[in-house]
Amino acid sequence: MQFSDRLGHSTRQNAIAALTSTLRSAGASVLNISDSNPTRHGLAPGGVLEALSSQACLDYLPDPRGLESARLVLAERFGGEADSYFLAASTSESYAWIFKLLCNPGDSVLVPRPGYPLFDSLAGLEAVRTVQYRLEYRHPGGWAIDLDELEKEAIASNAKAIVVINPNNPTGSYASISERDAIVTFCAERGIALIADEVFFPYALEASQDRPRFGGETACLTFALDGLSKLLCLPQMKLGWIRISGPPADACEAASRLELIADTYLSAGAPAMNALPALLERTEPFVSQLRERLAVNLASARAAFEGSDSPFRILRCDGGWTALLEYPRFATEEETVLGLLRDEHIAVQPGYFFDLERDGYLALSLILEPSVFAKAMSRLRRYLEAPLRLSDAHFA
Ligand SMILES: Cc1ncc(COP(=O)(O)O)c(C=O)c1O
Repeated sequence: MQFSDRLGHSTRQNAIAALTSTLRSAGASVLNISDSNPTRHGLAPGGVLEALSSQACLDYLPDPRGLESARLVLAERFGGEADSYFLAASTSESYAWIFKLLCNPGDSVLVPRPGYPLFDSLAGLEAVRTVQYRLEYRHPGGWAIDLDELEKEAIASNAKAIVVINPNNPTGSYASISERDAIVTFCAERGIALIADEVFFPYALEASQDRPRFGGETACLTFALDGLSKLLCLPQMKLGWIRISGPPADACEAASRLELIADTYLSAGAPAMNALPALLERTEPFVSQLRERLAVNLASARAAFEGSDSPFRILRCDGGWTALLEYPRFATEEETVLGLLRDEHIAVQPGYFFDLERDGYLALSLILEPSVFAKAMSRLRRYLEAPLRLSDAHFA
């Protein structure tokens, strides 16, 4: 059979996924400390089933932008007009629609490195090429976007869009005000669209100042993405949204073209759209409770790994659901992760999953239940310290 090149890579499992499946099918209980599926960690707002019980969930009112009642509530909460919002099944689907809107096969979009690996697949499935721009880490100041490189790469690749994840996954870094201004100005001057993924926006942790959203930006054509998956820990509800803004003529043209794409799929389900107004009312208490859990887990990772002569480091984590642990490179990330799985039944994502520039990082999910997370941190430290103890003994 002949298949398209869109998947771009082998469909075989990598060694880490293969060992995890083998252990699980042998009955081992594997603790995934990079797990970002909130439904496995007791995270859900109250009242979800009640919100789904309305008779209106049984009606089918096809509207390419999604139910107006849901869009009105989004506009009230996040700003703009109801007509500037499009509802889709997820943020991932929102990306796919925007890539279809902006790119011909072979065109490029800029994405951050380190970054979430999903974007390569999302772009690949639309026959779009991702070109990376760098984020650089300086301890303890945090991550900064290499703006020179971003501009150089955008021009060289004739990029149709720049993707900014605000805050980025897994670095947790928000765009600073000056980075934001520089990117918006550059996009406006060059006629490049901005795709701002703000799904983790409310989860600020160590950010030192309030950061503005990109959503609603009027200087350049902007697509701001958000959804229930992170905002209310409801990925199973399959509801995301795009807010379009920008110079009025561009925003209007983009919206009427996006309408044709959305009309082809009509993806957002009536139950989730009808439930949205009641669900969004739960946002503030829910987000603040989850932020508390994230902060407790971040503090517990710091307590487990930091100290005046510690060889470990938890990178600055301005926001989001992930903390990055840097550890001494006695073995490659792959060897370390496979060893942790085999010996401790702990699954963890290595830094290379996210294209970190160097070896020696592990991604820790801060959404785990705090007592589970704290115990996992001490097991992890014990495991990672073992080669250090051996080498101390050797040199003693
Ligand atoms: C930055 C970012 N955007 C989008 C998504 C996907 O969100 P959704 O479940 O709405 O497709 C993820 C998933 O973890 C993510 O990390």
